Amino acid sequence: MTASSLLGDIADVGRDRSRGGYSRHGFDSAELSLREWFVAEAVDRGLDVTCDRNGNLWAWWGPPGPDAIITGSHLDSVPGGGAFDGPLGVVSALAAVDAMRAKGFKPSKPFAIVVFAEEEGGRFGVACLGSRLMSGAIDPSVALNLRDPDGVSFAEAVSAAGLDPARMGRDAEALANIGCFIELHVEQGRGLIDLGVPVGVASSILAHGRWRFSFTGEGNHAGATPIDDRRDPMLPASQLVLAARAAASGVDGARATIGRIQPIPGGTNVIASTVDVWLDARAATDEVTRNVVAEIKAAGLSAAEDEGCSLTVTEESYGDTVIFDPALRDRLAEQLGGVPALQTGAGHDAGILAAHVPTAMLFVRNPTGVSHAPAEHAEPDDCEAGVAALATVLEHHLST
Ligand code: GLV
Ligand code: MN
Ligand code: MN
Repeated sequence: MTASSLLGDIADVGRDRSRGGYSRHGFDSAELSLREWFVAEAVDRGLDVTCDRNGNLWAWWGPPGPDAIITGSHLDSVPGGGAFDGPLGVVSALAAVDAMRAKGFKPSKPFAIVVFAEEEGGRFGVACLGSRLMSGAIDPSVALNLRDPDGVSFAEAVSAAGLDPARMGRDAEALANIGCFIELHVEQGRGLIDLGVPVGVASSILAHGRWRFSFTGEGNHAGATPIDDRRDPMLPASQLVLAARAAASGVDGARATIGRIQPIPGGTNVIASTVDVWLDARAATDEVTRNVVAEIKAAGLSAAEDEGCSLTVTEESYGDTVIFDPALRDRLAEQLGGVPALQTGAGHDAGILAAHVPTAMLFVRNPTGVSHAPAEHAEPDDCEAGVAALATVLEHHLST
């Protein structure tokens, strides 16, 4: 089957009628149906599917074992996200198996397709939860206590999905079996459009993290409270948005985004008592990222003080710069006839695993350059070029 026809099979799952695009979050009903769909597709292909202790699905072609070649991605999305970020890597892996089979190819090493759980952190706030848990990059007790916007804990969500929260955490055995991980992904940017090529490899990922800024003032009546008597946390929260833009502007490659603000209690005629603001900040190095965040924090503290509010800042997740295994990257580029290497500002499970195993990524051209939004796209021909590229590099790795 083609990647596009497989994407077509899941095109109606998790559509977000109010925000547009897709909202498919870890262990919600949409993501659970996608997981079921994946299991059925894998079983149809004679692959053996297991779910690991951390909720990641593995579909093995032949018996599991050491030095395994692993490909795959994730099926969850950001709120109102596109159809390709995550699913393209999963459907391309299935299509690559079909393509290898059609040629009569048989792997001479263990091989599996993996679907990582809650990659976007769209429900529980921390990105790459499945791969972080598996690799020990997050303490399971921290992960299990994360809560979604409805107050459901990660522990409750995974229990409802039939997993045992007590067994979650670093999975040394699963990690030890991985010889290398190759994740195919839609490009999130304009690199391949500008170069005029359909497929590239990844070179690096920016350092990035998420911080929660909680401004607390005094909840009160919007009509009855004179302006001079207010301690309105929405004021410093608004200034934080501007401070984020100012801090990242002019700093080479730095990005600072506030895409989520939650006033509590959140009423039109209510001065909020607390406003939570989430900052996503990224830059080429740890030092630059930390400096940008420190500047934003200083601006937030000063704005809070001016309004008689308090501020607490919590680092919810952080990952240092990732440089993908240079030998593997160059080998893949060469096997694909000299495709370009591109850096990315987007985070990936491959970035988490890169600290433990040789890891690489293939990018497929995105004609809009847009991602994390409904306009994210990949043309069917480019998707097929991605499948062909993935099958080529997998065959190289699975034959030696
Ligand atoms: C995930 O795609 C991220 O970069 O936040
Ligand atoms: Mn994403
Ligand atoms: Mn992704």
